[in-house]
Amino acid sequence: MANRSHRNAGHRAMNALRKLGQKHSSESLLRTDVSGKTHHVFDVADCLDVLARIPDESIQLIVCDPPYNILLADWDSHQDYIRWASKWLAEAERVLAPTGSIAIFGGLQYQGEAGSGDLLSIISHMRQHSKMLLVNLIIWNYPNGMSAQRFFANRHEEIAWFAKTKKYYFDLDSVREPYDEETKAAYMKDKRLNPESVAKGRNPTNVWRMVRLNGNSLERVGHPTQKPAQVIERLVRALSYPGSTVLDFFAGSGVTARVAIQEGRNSICTDADPAFRGYIAKQMQFLQHDGLLDSIREYKVLEGLCHLEVFQQPMLKAAE
Ligand SMILES: C[S@@+](CC[C@H](N)C(=O)[O-])C[C@H]1O[C@@H](n2cnc3c(N)ncnc32)[C@H](O)[C@@H]1O
Repeated sequence: MANRSHRNAGHRAMNALRKLGQKHSSESLLRTDVSGKTHHVFDVADCLDVLARIPDESIQLIVCDPPYNILLADWDSHQDYIRWASKWLAEAERVLAPTGSIAIFGGLQYQGEAGSGDLLSIISHMRQHSKMLLVNLIIWNYPNGMSAQRFFANRHEEIAWFAKTKKYYFDLDSVREPYDEETKAAYMKDKRLNPESVAKGRNPTNVWRMVRLNGNSLERVGHPTQKPAQVIERLVRALSYPGSTVLDFFAGSGVTARVAIQEGRNSICTDADPAFRGYIAKQMQFLQHDGLLDSIREYKVLEGLCHLEVFQQPMLKAAE
């Protein structure tokens, strides 16, 4: 079967630019001016209060893992889910930069349980009420999970990637997967393939096989639905650039803050649950343990969003 991506106008335009030795406008952001410090804001607050304090078009990436009303915890209950979700979705669109994206986690299997939300209802709402573009529906496929007797045991969740505009930023090279040596050698000899692309590795596709956190995983900080850092890392690397700002207003375990610090992005991570403070403290301990917070230069508490911590960023790989 023909590769349908070759019929895609965007794909053809990118190839044409590459042949001319030119770059897409979003790619010029890759080497942005980075001061050597990143800023990280943490707060315990309702998502709508946080969003109301964020200026228009100031955020590059929103990592969004909302509650779906499936009564997993006290916070997981809303009377009219989509009415509530529509408020933060509209605010998310407002705060995203024209190059920005939102990655919304969820499953399609929860609809109807305890009365309302799932990712399908969010996607359907976005189709009708938002100008954002659904770029990919990413399937996060995990090998580990619960067993089942009355249906096939579930081994995936979805992540809907919406871009604010067609000018969205996407750094594929930062997340390519290297070919094994044998495949690479064979592909290098294949005249139909571009050796430069083969050397960089393969597009990881929209099916991500990554392990879910087990109960005793070393990454765990105590939050019941903590996502693996590996999944957040791929989103942050591909959809934001060093020195840009990542927002997570359902930050839960604080894993997005940890990844943002590691990857040289600024971050705003907030959650309504006061337990968030303890989770963030544990994430910071992990970073300290990994030697990443040795160079804290300043600690400030500013007005507006509660805490602003400034770290010297020791790992600006992409900006070097
Ligand atoms: C699915 S969890 C997020 C997990 C997170 N992605 C992680 O990997 O740790 C959803 C989070 O939303 C928070 N939450 C629920 N309602 C909220 C609201 N109205 N405003 C802010 N946070 C809220 C909950 O406290 C919970 O931590």
